Amino acid sequence: MAGIVVGGAGLAWAGTTRNEPVRDETFTEPEVLTSTDKNLTLTLVAASGSGTVAGRDATTLRYNGGLPGPTLRLRPGDHLGIEVVNHLNDPTNLHTHGLQVSPLGNSDNPFVMINPGARFRYDYQIPDDHPAGTFWYHPHHHGLAADQVFAGLYGAIVIDDPDAPQVSADRVLVISDITLDGAGTVRPATGMQRMAGREGDLVLVNGQANPVLAAQPGTRERWRIVNACVSRYLRLRLAGQELQLLGIDLPLAGQPPPIDELLLAPGNRADLLVTTRTGTSTLQTLSYNRGSAMGMGMGGGMGSQGMGSQGSDPGGSVIELATLAVTGPPAPAVANFSPRQAIPDLQATAITTRRTVTLAMGMSMSSGGPAFTIDGRGFDPNRVDQTVTAGAVEEWTIINTSPMDHPFHLHVWPMQILSIAGGPIDPPTWQNVVNVPARSSTVVRIAFDADTGRTVYHCHILDHEDNGMMGVIDVV
Ligand code: C2O
Ligand code: CU
Ligand code: CU
Repeated sequence: MAGIVVGGAGLAWAGTTRNEPVRDETFTEPEVLTSTDKNLTLTLVAASGSGTVAGRDATTLRYNGGLPGPTLRLRPGDHLGIEVVNHLNDPTNLHTHGLQVSPLGNSDNPFVMINPGARFRYDYQIPDDHPAGTFWYHPHHHGLAADQVFAGLYGAIVIDDPDAPQVSADRVLVISDITLDGAGTVRPATGMQRMAGREGDLVLVNGQANPVLAAQPGTRERWRIVNACVSRYLRLRLAGQELQLLGIDLPLAGQPPPIDELLLAPGNRADLLVTTRTGTSTLQTLSYNRGSAMGMGMGGGMGSQGMGSQGSDPGGSVIELATLAVTGPPAPAVANFSPRQAIPDLQATAITTRRTVTLAMGMSMSSGGPAFTIDGRGFDPNRVDQTVTAGAVEEWTIINTSPMDHPFHLHVWPMQILSIAGGPIDPPTWQNVVNVPARSSTVVRIAFDADTGRTVYHCHILDHEDNGMMGVIDVV
């Protein structure tokens, strides 16, 4: 480096300074589009574009020019119409993650392909009895999902509660990660990163690096957190503040339990109440060991600390995501929180069918390369792997024979979690993504009511999904 003198400053600026995130900006949220008269219709243009990421100019993929895309706010019973316009150089499509809507036709159909230059009109009918909560949308084109999400295509969906808790702020925090080079363009993943599941150098909240939120003491806020990272598990803490969990993915019943730490696998969302206390607190993500592909001849061992160095600390076990500054006079007392309604519990329900689903990593006989399989097979959109009778209540044991965790996701129908690695779950907990820790199993129950049709289940480490860890389910 010492030898390069001429133009050195410029090179240094382009190579390093420009890459440094601008931290501590005022927290912002994506544009919010709200339904009126039971309808929300919008156009969503997926395109490469320049804009700000972590306070610096960057060229990323964007929905409607934003990173994240707009937040869509609806109520149960609403209609959602989205015209997706593909200005990318690759095919794409759209998935409404967690929404309990039809997987058929031009609803939440993961088999739709939208070619470059083409457009596709999605129509979703949100059922009248749809649970309130936080959901999200992202592309789901097999083979390209990880690349497109990593490069910036994601946004939040909020289904509003008819009787929501009184809060002084209702915030959406979309957490994503990305790696930018010195020119501000998205760095493609290496082969090893695609195996381990890529983790970006920068962890962003609504496209910002460690933004600052301000509040008065004694207020109650609602934080809706989406883990839009391709592969990174988030182990969240907000020390010094009072946190209560309204739910992970779907609402819990009763009084929200106090928590001080929260694990969100890729694709999970958290719904939190934050009651503020004077002081400055940092929303942090701590390291989480999700296992390693080492020893399988694949290389690329990966804990969420390994690739996720936020700048200066390559072994970085703690990443600061946002800062909450609580100052000023105490706010007026907040209204009591009324416990929420009971939710379904399938623990005592008669089971129609029991199945096992086995997630594995190994070497492919045909290609000699790594194979990510479910029940020994890679994804084939033309094969149905599970046929389920509409109305059935099933128990699925999801077995992970590999040395890495895999977050298991089923479209459309939520899963009640009975146990993870043998540890029972109580009270009833409903999720759309559930972790299956390395060399263990997770047991869930699923009520296949309301919707029928063909859709998918997969690992939500989107690199694994793109590598074949996905199957087809048909509810008939
Ligand atoms: Cu969020 Cu099939 O994915
Ligand atoms: Cu999904
Ligand atoms: Cu996986």
